[in-house]
Amino acid sequence: MQIIRTIAELREHLANFKRPAFVPTMGNLHDGHLALVRQAKPLGDVVVVSIFVNRLQFLPHEDFDTYPRTWEADCQALEAAGCDVVFAPGEKELYPEPQGFTIQPPSESANILEGHFRPGFFGGVCTVVMKLFACVGPRVALFGQKDYQQLMVIRRMVRQFALPIEVIGGQTLRASDGLALSSRNNYLSPSQRKEAVQLSKALRAMAEAVRAGATDLPSLEHHAMDALAQRGWQPDYLTVRCRSNLQSPVADQVTALAKNEGLVVLGAAKLGSTRLIDNLEI
Ligand code: PAF
Repeated sequence: MQIIRTIAELREHLANFKRPAFVPTMGNLHDGHLALVRQAKPLGDVVVVSIFVNRLQFLPHEDFDTYPRTWEADCQALEAAGCDVVFAPGEKELYPEPQGFTIQPPSESANILEGHFRPGFFGGVCTVVMKLFACVGPRVALFGQKDYQQLMVIRRMVRQFALPIEVIGGQTLRASDGLALSSRNNYLSPSQRKEAVQLSKALRAMAEAVRAGATDLPSLEHHAMDALAQRGWQPDYLTVRCRSNLQSPVADQVTALAKNEGLVVLGAAKLGSTRLIDNLEI
């Protein structure tokens, strides 16, 4: 496995390959990331994983400085998972000057849900992903489905800019109790870790209610958020949306959409100071 820190060296190395498969990450890797690397292996002739904690997607009060950096463990795990190239640029390499040119995703997909609670987040994600795409030149790029809205926004960006990249979503991996794997799970205390599964349980209960015929989504969402709040969470949203555009479905289409695999339930909530997100397709 090669470790490459500069764009020039990366380009020189990748000139020998026709079909790079790319997994962008911010490091602190868990089995979900490693599953993406394994999924990438047969899809390209070289698997590139980037590790870069992207300042542009963090709000000033968020955890950029404390975001866990676990370089040694990440490299060991990547090598074992079959990664060929780790691209780990420093900040000065990727942003040698203030990044004045940025991608501004359209507000109907980027200012709702995560984008509403983390203004500017998707602009920061799209800008770095576009830049990483320019460095790696992938033919295939893989993103975890746990970040459902991120995956949708990136698919749209790739489509609208006609980038010759196939975007593939990787299934969410879960701990044995059902908690979605996430780098931010490391922030949880032992008691919070036990409680954390309640988010996925709440989403599962909402999905089951919709499958069983519930159509009053505002009331379903309100009750689910209330129940989590009673347990000490600070929920941002628990909501049923159309898979295609993440908008709220109209009430008389809920049943048909649920039958045709057209819905997804998404949630974000804080437990102490740790913000967790999760989703389930209905
Ligand atoms: O999902 C992530 O880890 C990040 O948002 C990404 C896609 C690597 C961009 O920094």
